[in-house]
Amino acid sequence: MINAADVIASLRARDIENTGHGPLYRRLQVALKAIIDDGVLKVQDALPSERDLATELNISRVTVRNAVRALVEDGVLVQRHGAGTFVAPRVEQALSRLTSFTEDMTTRGLQPGAIWLEKSVGHASPEEAMALNLSPGTEVSRLRRLRTANDKPMALEFAVLPRAFLPSPEDVDKSLYDALARHGKKPDRALQRLRAELFDAETAKILGVPEGSAALYIERRSFLANGTPVEFTRSYYRGDSYDFIAEMQVDAR
Ligand code: GLP
Repeated sequence: MINAADVIASLRARDIENTGHGPLYRRLQVALKAIIDDGVLKVQDALPSERDLATELNISRVTVRNAVRALVEDGVLVQRHGAGTFVAPRVEQALSRLTSFTEDMTTRGLQPGAIWLEKSVGHASPEEAMALNLSPGTEVSRLRRLRTANDKPMALEFAVLPRAFLPSPEDVDKSLYDALARHGKKPDRALQRLRAELFDAETAKILGVPEGSAALYIERRSFLANGTPVEFTRSYYRGDSYDFIAEMQVDAR
């Protein structure tokens, strides 16, 4: 349980009225986000009430409301009717299970969604041909989607698949893996590469996060049971929304 006094003390220590630029509510928004990032407020913790924040920090309730609203829109806080405002849960994903975005969100009770940014067919670039083990120029389907959970942007994904397995991006409705399953081409195994990056201006804008904030870049190559590569996907996940969990065991020897 978080003590409201600790939150207020952390916010006071940041002296938002005399620090930073822009409207006061933006500075409060930045300070609230910082105390969440620093772990003063943890996932599922309740925020002190709007009235307490306003009184204790000596600012108007409208300023507090605007800062909280902006953080709710960013997906950092959630408001539960009648219960208050809480730090939003992060999505946890096991590193050892091959799952789709749709499955990951559904199992957490979140509503998966996708906003299409590109659907096209074309000839594999040298990089795509290498990743998918194709002869140069083989036809591929390309899908670029903004993935959302409860309408909140989570990741930007760019998937490339041989047309032999996905004849047209139009075959994909909500889930790529469902479409592949319908064609009898659902991946059986995958290799994933993860690395930390910072969002560039364009990607940050699409995901609605500040330029230069933390991103998790994930590249997935997945394979059919016979070892044929079926998918090459490059994704940028919001670093503030995702936890990847790996289970480890000591060597049995
Ligand atoms: C994850 C993976 C992608 C994969 C996608 C399929 O997001 N990182 O490589 O293409 O799941 O998800 P869906 O079936 O919901 O489209």
